[in-house]
Amino acid sequence: MEILHGTHEYSMRANWKMLVENSTDGYHLMSTHQRYLEMAKASGADFTAMPSTRGADLGNGHIVAESRGGCYGVGRPPPNDDVRAKWDARRAELEQRYGAEWVGRMYGTRNLVIFPNLVIIDLIGGIVVRKIDPVRPDYLEVSAWELAPVGEDAELRSLRLDNFLTFWGPGGMATPDDVEALECCQRSFATLPGSRWSDISRGMSRDVATGFDEYHIRSFWRHWNELMTGEPAVPEEHGVPEPFTVQRPEPSAASV
Ligand SMILES: [Fe+2]
Repeated sequence: MEILHGTHEYSMRANWKMLVENSTDGYHLMSTHQRYLEMAKASGADFTAMPSTRGADLGNGHIVAESRGGCYGVGRPPPNDDVRAKWDARRAELEQRYGAEWVGRMYGTRNLVIFPNLVIIDLIGGIVVRKIDPVRPDYLEVSAWELAPVGEDAELRSLRLDNFLTFWGPGGMATPDDVEALECCQRSFATLPGSRWSDISRGMSRDVATGFDEYHIRSFWRHWNELMTGEPAVPEEHGVPEPFTVQRPEPSAASV
């Protein structure tokens, strides 16, 4: 894998931990980014197959929201039959090496937080590496890059970059919506003296939560609280998502 040339740089008048929450919550895509999704649907994306999702506590504050299924990671589909054929051939090659079940997981999505402020988002037809810099309690700066396979076919690379620029960054169809939403939240918190916490309780009353709940975000906050106060984090008994059971197989001997 390689980091591609070019950087997205932007800022928000919001606390950096809200962007951590935003980077890995599984539900705001549908509402906050409806404008993008309508465009993608108009260009041929099929959102009828809802993915299976889970959130996971990876320990030491590291968390992930993951899905299996979905369509091109919610990005725009290949623009013509030639690119689609290359796309399908790449997947077929991977399935030959790793089996369809594992590749089904590979072609899902991942929103990963490496505690505390590094985010890797495998979504929208590509992988974004995002560094969040907390400049002030109410102001953050972001640097972001695209991560891609070395030696990728030129047309597949072009599709990847098209999705990167169409969704992400200050000129994308999604990031400005996130900026606006988080700055609105920051202003609202500022009007509530004594308000100390984000409400991250979604899914706490469920026996088994999903990636659309907030179990994994609470895991981030538990570790943060432990570091700030010295109070040992208490694991949750309810609202814990079930893990995905499929594991990475050894590559088939024929492809090695
Ligand atoms: Fe967003």
